[in-house]
Amino acid sequence: MPDPINPPEPPLGDGVVTLRPFRADDAPAIYAACQDPGIQRWVPFLPVPYTEADARAFILLTLHAWHEGTGCEFAIVDAASGRFLGAVGLHLGVSQRRHAIGYWVAPEARRRGVAVRAVRLLSRWAFDRFGTQRLSLWTLPGNVASQAVAESCGFRHEGTVRNWEVDRDEGPVDAVMFSMTPDDLADQIELEAGGGAGSGARAVAGARAGAVAKIAVVPRELRAVGTRVAPFVEVAAVAELTPGSMRRVTLAGMDLLVAWPPDGIVVTDDRCPHMAAPLSVGGLDGCVVACPFHEGRFDLCTGETVQMPTTGGLDADGNYHAPWSPSGGEIKPEPPTKKMEARRLTRVNRLRYYPARIRDGILEAQVPILPE
Ligand code: FES
Repeated sequence: MPDPINPPEPPLGDGVVTLRPFRADDAPAIYAACQDPGIQRWVPFLPVPYTEADARAFILLTLHAWHEGTGCEFAIVDAASGRFLGAVGLHLGVSQRRHAIGYWVAPEARRRGVAVRAVRLLSRWAFDRFGTQRLSLWTLPGNVASQAVAESCGFRHEGTVRNWEVDRDEGPVDAVMFSMTPDDLADQIELEAGGGAGSGARAVAGARAGAVAKIAVVPRELRAVGTRVAPFVEVAAVAELTPGSMRRVTLAGMDLLVAWPPDGIVVTDDRCPHMAAPLSVGGLDGCVVACPFHEGRFDLCTGETVQMPTTGGLDADGNYHAPWSPSGGEIKPEPPTKKMEARRLTRVNRLRYYPARIRDGILEAQVPILPE
């Protein structure tokens, strides 16, 4: 049996959050947090309904893990007030060099970077304390917020692992897998030292703009067809890109839109999801690109249509939207023609993305073409 593990002394902390072992009096706060539908949805093995007895059993389990040397489970608390914010844990694998990290944050403590702080503190300690070679982290598909935390902390996306876990009903669930190696951690520390990381995804200094280039975190389910197995190909030098701008890049006959809205760089098709006009000649306002035709407006960060085209048509969910006029004026009724029917049946789908990364100052994307 592995030796007991002593919690770090002094406790891990960054002045904003502190990580400490769980205590019996954390039970009410854990119980309250685990009533949250978000935690219940994204932690598939959490008992539902969740009782205070479940919270007490969880605390006991975490204390056993320390004692038996199988895990290091921490309560995340506010450094100043000691208020309970969430949980983060290191689960030690059979191999002492491969470990996993997991976390959740109470609903009222979200959107303040609590998870990023806690995962950073724990992952650095794990590499240092256990000589870890691989730290893994998985989320359910669709848990975009948690995936953003992983990438902000320097974890790299590896892919979707089928039937990785079982849920509370013993049903198999797929997992989106991330990992971090000592080299990834060194890269991340370097980026942070350069002021790069912390607010979004992977970052490097954009030479020309003097800004920090990062890849926007976009919904995984909106990846373009064929990207799952496509290799990363070079798209552009980051130094040639400017925040707040868009440009077309053509690769082997495919016209890509490379845009840099506030959430970070995205790579998508340079085709309006309505009638394929080049979006690169439209306008970019924050995350929203305005198509040069028909007044269509699309959110580059979520893939959603913000404003349906003047022609009307079907939205991504198949709901019909009537034609409209920018001035609010009345639309002159037209006699029914094939053209009108085509407009009515034209569906405006969500944008699709090419997964991107930045390596050595080069923007690369998984585009389903053969590299030249
Ligand atoms: S082609 Fe873009 S809104 Fe119609």
